[in-house]
Amino acid sequence: MSAEASARPVSITACPDGPLLVRGDLALFDDDGEPVQPNRRTFALCRCGASAIRPFCDGSHKLVGFRTSPPARTPAVTFDEAP
Ligand code: FES
Repeated sequence: MSAEASARPVSITACPDGPLLVRGDLALFDDDGEPVQPNRRTFALCRCGASAIRPFCDGSHKLVGFRTSPPARTPAVTFDEAP
């Protein structure tokens, strides 16, 4: 089985009052274009700006009282393979 065939589809779930939960096989890059290794197949991206380990969430959104407005909606957005 090729690497492409075994790739998991990517989904991003906006957690209410919290991070973006990312699942699937994808490449992540910092603002210099350097690859960032999440070291997990599922990880949370900070969207409150308070994390000490950006771009990842460290739970600080709870300490700063981050609120999503309007509330995040479910279900997750899933990206299908390009045609
Ligand atoms: S969303 Fe969790 S620390 Fe920012």
